[in-house]
Amino acid sequence: MKILAIETSCDDTAIALAQCQTNSFKLLSSVVSSQNEIHKKYGGIYPSLARREHQKNLMPVLEEALKKNSISNSQLSDNYQLNNFQVKKIKKILERENITKIQLLDFLKRHKKPNIAIIAVTKGPGLEPCLWTGVNFAKALSCAWNIPAIGINHIEAHIFTGFLKKEVKIQKVKQGFPAIALIASGGHTQLIFVEKIGRYKIIGETRDDAAGEAFDKIARILGLGYPGGPKIEKTAKNAPDCKIKLPRPMINSKNYDFSFSGLKTAVLYKYNKNKAPGMAKEAQQAIIDVLIKKTLKAAKSFRVKNIIIGGGVSANQELRKQFQNKIGKDFNLRFPLPAFSTDNAAMVALCACLKNKKSDKLIAEANLRL
Ligand code: KG4
Ligand code: ZN
Repeated sequence: MKILAIETSCDDTAIALAQCQTNSFKLLSSVVSSQNEIHKKYGGIYPSLARREHQKNLMPVLEEALKKNSISNSQLSDNYQLNNFQVKKIKKILERENITKIQLLDFLKRHKKPNIAIIAVTKGPGLEPCLWTGVNFAKALSCAWNIPAIGINHIEAHIFTGFLKKEVKIQKVKQGFPAIALIASGGHTQLIFVEKIGRYKIIGETRDDAAGEAFDKIARILGLGYPGGPKIEKTAKNAPDCKIKLPRPMINSKNYDFSFSGLKTAVLYKYNKNKAPGMAKEAQQAIIDVLIKKTLKAAKSFRVKNIIIGGGVSANQELRKQFQNKIGKDFNLRFPLPAFSTDNAAMVALCACLKNKKSDKLIAEANLRL
């Protein structure tokens, strides 16, 4: 069966199409429209601005995702037309998403129903106004095409990104657990014990800023721009070692929790005082040290062989290199392909395929827990 997946939890508008079978998953298309250029001006994400961008982007991204599979090229056939009840319902669902509504109704006039069995959409956690644009879009498509729509947990979707590629063997994913998963992004930093697909225990999380948020805030202090992770990584690459040592918050604490806001404050204080070169490198290293130490500690005490890293911060090459060096041959370490580190809808499709949920009460849940 074909799954259409939608992701709008933060600042990327993403849609993917996949073929899901009992034993295999095949990615047919994955389109991501990043809003980085827009949020760059403000040095961070404003939810209401991000929401408006999602509303503008959803239809063009959908058309591109479908076009890549040539399943939307056919014109509307005579025997498929929205009835008045459907049109009325779609207008109601999208009453607060005017741009999307106009574009979708126009699209539905021009194209016949594609061969899609189910829609999967990220319902949380994330920025509530952004989540609603995706959820409402999924509901409208579900009404137009008369197919079910289900909600997917964004963190759960990140967990499987280490397995994501064009063709995935479901058995291989199942064999990847039990595992410790570290999900580090702009909104979240969590250590999760994954017993198997569908069984999770959050064993630690950040008490204040997420790791990606720390990258973003520190980059802003250092005047490097947004998003901070890639900027800091690039700056750190050719930088000298910093004479100033930054703290590694909670690195030796007995639990698996994190805290990154003190690191940001230390950078603010020390950078303003000294303008020491190499500060970006030292800040990146402080974050890497904490992430690696806590993840390895968790993997050892939960006696698992598998470690999975996901979320935007997992794109960091230095983190990848140091992780690999530290674990040696003791663990199987899985990082996502670079395109699947940051937010995308392919991971939503894979998660939906693995979970095999049939129906759902669809609402956005900004604080949804695993
Ligand atoms: O997973 P993601 O795309 O969105 C959220 O769910 O938050 O993660 C975005 C975060 C941003 O904070 C960004 O600075 C960080 O991931 N990031 C990186 C890198 N690329 C993105 N952090 C460190 N190094 C990178 N190369
Ligand atoms: Zn994410």
